[in-house]
Amino acid sequence: MVSEKMAKALNQQIGLEAKASFLYLSMAAWCDAEGLEGCSRFMHRQADEERAHMLRIFEYMSEVDAHALTPAIEQVPHSFASVQKMFEMVYAHEQKVTKSIHDLMEIAKSENDFSTDNFLQWYIAEQREEESLMRSILDKIKLIGDSPMSLYYIDKEIDVINTAEMKKEEGE
Ligand code: FEO
Repeated sequence: MVSEKMAKALNQQIGLEAKASFLYLSMAAWCDAEGLEGCSRFMHRQADEERAHMLRIFEYMSEVDAHALTPAIEQVPHSFASVQKMFEMVYAHEQKVTKSIHDLMEIAKSENDFSTDNFLQWYIAEQREEESLMRSILDKIKLIGDSPMSLYYIDKEIDVINTAEMKKEEGE
C-alpha cells in the first residue's frame, strides 16, 4: 500500500513521462520532415523509453494496490526553431522530470515508504544519465555549430550516439 498523497504524486509522474513520450515523438516527426534521419531515430527511441518509464509506474502502482490513471496530455509543439533549440527543450524537460522524481522521493522519505523509496532509486540513476546525455549532445551541437552546413554532421553524430544507446539498452 502507498498513501493517497503518494498515489496522487505517482499519477502526476505518469503524466510527465507520457508528455515526454509525446514530445519526443513529435520531435522525431519534425526531424524526419527536416531530413534529419539520425535525430529522428534518436527521438523515436527516446519516445519509446519514456513510454517504458510511464509503464514502469503503472506496474509498480498495481503491485502496491494503487490505481494508476492514464493521463490527459496537453498539446506538445509540432515544430522547433532549430535542432539546438529542440535539444534545449529536451534538456529542460528532463530537468523538470528530475525535480519531480526528487519531490516524489521526499514524500517517500517523509512517509517512511521504503518500498517507493526503493522503486524511485532506479529513476534517480536514470535521470542522472539522461541529463548527462542531453548535456553532452548540446555541447557537441555548440562545437559543431547550428548552421545549415553543420546540420549534416550533427545528424551523423546523433545517429552514432543513438546506436551506442541502443547497444547499451540491449546489454541491460
Ligand atoms: Fe522519463 Fe526522461 O524522463
